[in-house]
Amino acid sequence: MGFNIAIDGPAGAGKSTIAKRVAKELNFVYVDTGAMYRAIALYFLKNKLNAGDEAVAAAACENINVRIAYENGEQQVLLNGENVTGQIRTEEAGNMASVTSAYKAVRERILSLQQDLARVADVVMDGRDIGTCVLPKAPLKIYLTASVKTRGERRYKELTEKGLACNLEEICKDIEDRDFRDMNRDISPLKQAEDAVLVDSSHMTIEEVTETILRHARERMAGN
Ligand code: DC
Repeated sequence: MGFNIAIDGPAGAGKSTIAKRVAKELNFVYVDTGAMYRAIALYFLKNKLNAGDEAVAAAACENINVRIAYENGEQQVLLNGENVTGQIRTEEAGNMASVTSAYKAVRERILSLQQDLARVADVVMDGRDIGTCVLPKAPLKIYLTASVKTRGERRYKELTEKGLACNLEEICKDIEDRDFRDMNRDISPLKQAEDAVLVDSSHMTIEEVTETILRHARERMAGN
């Protein structure tokens, strides 16, 4: 078993930015589990499947194979052999992932993939249920959150910098809806693990959050 760091939290809290930096600093492998759910969501979008029907989702899972590869240290997601890394970063895929990830069949499809990655390497794994379900024995668990307002503003800035037209109110509404779905589903809902360290990044810089997590990681590693 590698030394595993689980980072969970709501959409837009900065998990992937922070997890990547922590992984680089510690020379760990960064595993983005949201990308796996997004790849599955892409299958639904591409095949125009009814995401509201659990039986359709369960049947679709029989035909879905998600794999992870690393290219120059960057995680790549393969959906049925096709590298879909460049196609999964849309709001549409994120929102669809929030819907389809509520199904048992979808979660079971990639659980062992996630656990296998953590078994063979030291990982920083981010998602919604890593500390609670995927790696319940991880020696360090972080619950990274921020207010809806802060997360909305960060997303707004990101999209406008890319030249994309967007509306702050709509973004905040999307975030609230996604939080509600992720936190209230029956299976593996987003919640802070009892033994997780809570980090609220609303008023912290990326560097401050990274340093905070690195400090906890070094303490735990020294104690291991
Ligand atoms: O982190 P993200 O925005 O890429 O995740 C997209 C969706 O996937 C998220 O809204 C819920 C789901 N997800 C999940 O259910 N469990 C995870 N471990 C990671 C993501």
